[in-house]
Amino acid sequence: MKFIAYDTRDDERNDFEELSKKLNIEIILVSEGLNINNIDLAKGCDGVTILGHSKVDSVILDKLKQLNINYLSTRTVGYNHIDIDYAKSLGIRVSNSYYAPNGVADYTVMLILMCIRHYKQAMFRGNVNDYSLKGLQGKEMKDLTIGVIGTGKIGATVIDNLKGFGSRMLAYDKYQNEKVKEKATYVDLDTLYKESDVITLHTPLVDSTYHMIDTEALSKMKDNVVLINCARGELMHIPDLITGVETRKIGALGLDVFENEEGIYHLDRRTDIISNRDMAYLRQFPNVIMTQHMAFYTDAAVTSMVCSSVTSLVDFVEKGESENEIII
Ligand code: COI
Repeated sequence: MKFIAYDTRDDERNDFEELSKKLNIEIILVSEGLNINNIDLAKGCDGVTILGHSKVDSVILDKLKQLNINYLSTRTVGYNHIDIDYAKSLGIRVSNSYYAPNGVADYTVMLILMCIRHYKQAMFRGNVNDYSLKGLQGKEMKDLTIGVIGTGKIGATVIDNLKGFGSRMLAYDKYQNEKVKEKATYVDLDTLYKESDVITLHTPLVDSTYHMIDTEALSKMKDNVVLINCARGELMHIPDLITGVETRKIGALGLDVFENEEGIYHLDRRTDIISNRDMAYLRQFPNVIMTQHMAFYTDAAVTSMVCSSVTSLVDFVEKGESENEIII
């Protein structure tokens, strides 16, 4: 069996090599994301694994089909970068990966704490020997209502993590999770917006959630609301967020993801001219913390992403099915 892995980072190499030996398969490692210029490298392979910054549209899928590749696996949990309907119409089977929700859930808690304790400003001040306190007065978690939008694996783990702080927990999801009900109260979205001091997003990116955080949603929230996004940048309408920060509707933002982050995040772009004005403008606010889509990035998650993705491809080839197949 022969597979090709696109978008590979150095830290994944060891896991790929160990799996190749263990399963007696060949895996070609390519550091670039899958695109129309490098797709021919997949010729002769039984399956392809990618990461989230490879956009798999109809052009790429047609080409995979021409190359007689019927199995595609993303080493991510999210799969909004793949045109699943079109893949299905071509008979290309697609799977996503599994990794424990704890890395992202831990990171979410860190961003909440950093926001409510003004940690960005405190850290910047320390670097220039400014040890003043003005403007750094924070809030205590026990006094806050935290709204979690999306109570799948990650959202539910965020609620588990937060419970120890004594915050009041609200949750919103189309599908309610019985375990979550033990620690949080499900409410409708408008109530969550109205009553939460901190709102954290853990919902997938689909048509109905695209730009869900916009001026209209903000108008329903408390003044000084803290918003956290470790899910997908496209859940937020950035120009509306900028207005929200400028008008002080938003008290703080913790963003690990950003719309149009592809080609920027996970790369060293220090000496380049980056043409994403919103990203640069938003980043400069003292109450906005932005990181490079790294909430997932733990040693356990990386190993799990590689293993579950390659295992899916092997299962597709050997058994004709994978437990991680995306069925819609
Ligand atoms: C995911 O697994 O969905 C992530 O967001 C991780 C990232 C490598 C795209």
